[in-house]
Amino acid sequence: MHENLVLDPERIPRHVAIIMDGNGRWAKQRNLPRIMGHKAGTESLKNIVKIAGELKLEVLTLYAFSTENWKRPSLEVQGLMTLLKSYLKSELQKMLDNTVSLRCIGEIEMLPTDVQKVLSEVMQETARNAEDKSGLILNLALSYGGRSEIVRAARIMAEKCVSGQFDPKDFSEKLLAAHLYTAGLPDPDLLIRTGGESRLSNFLLWQLSYAELYITETMWPDFNTERFFEALKEFQSRERRFGQTSQQLQAE
Ligand code: FPP
Repeated sequence: MHENLVLDPERIPRHVAIIMDGNGRWAKQRNLPRIMGHKAGTESLKNIVKIAGELKLEVLTLYAFSTENWKRPSLEVQGLMTLLKSYLKSELQKMLDNTVSLRCIGEIEMLPTDVQKVLSEVMQETARNAEDKSGLILNLALSYGGRSEIVRAARIMAEKCVSGQFDPKDFSEKLLAAHLYTAGLPDPDLLIRTGGESRLSNFLLWQLSYAELYITETMWPDFNTERFFEALKEFQSRERRFGQTSQQLQAE
């Protein structure tokens, strides 16, 4: 590791979220079918999960499949589902050994039943790792969309009002956050997007309010340990003001 990429252990983000973009372009540049880009992207994903665990991040949320991704050609969708299933099967032991616990966010009921089955098995098997607070929570966003997550939370809250569990007067940011898929998780401190596009693409719209944004031209399959350290180093160099002034922060 390059010396100037040494990180401050006191300022490791608790939660990093990543939009893993650029698999298709990576493949195209090499005259390969798109699915080979996703395959290479899976290797990147395995490496970043390993480093995130070593750095003692609390949560790593990865945008693996958006609600919009269902519109892709069915062969690509099938290929992604197959990759996801084999990733989960092949990584279970590693997750257990490295105290990683798996969670997922999104419309999981939309996934093929065989994928849902493996997903719930791996979540169940790794759930006890969550008791070890030093372990990483790997949070996969699957068939996920930020707007529909907020609508879903609003619907659940409305239903609870109708059934008398609480009153509209009780509505607050805290209560809404507790009805999102991410309930109980800290908000991301850092959002990384690979592939160079400057947009959120309907990812964690509520939760990213105060996240630092880091966009890199690097395509996801090329996003290696060094690139990850560069992103974390950049995060550590930023001043997070949360709406306050620099002076106020320094006085704290
Ligand atoms: C975006 O690249 C990436 C995706 C839609 C899927 C991300 C999936 C993986 C990294 C691997 C499979 C997931 C798991 C959990 C094993 P793109 O296809 O939009 O790239 P492009 O913008 O260059 O076309």
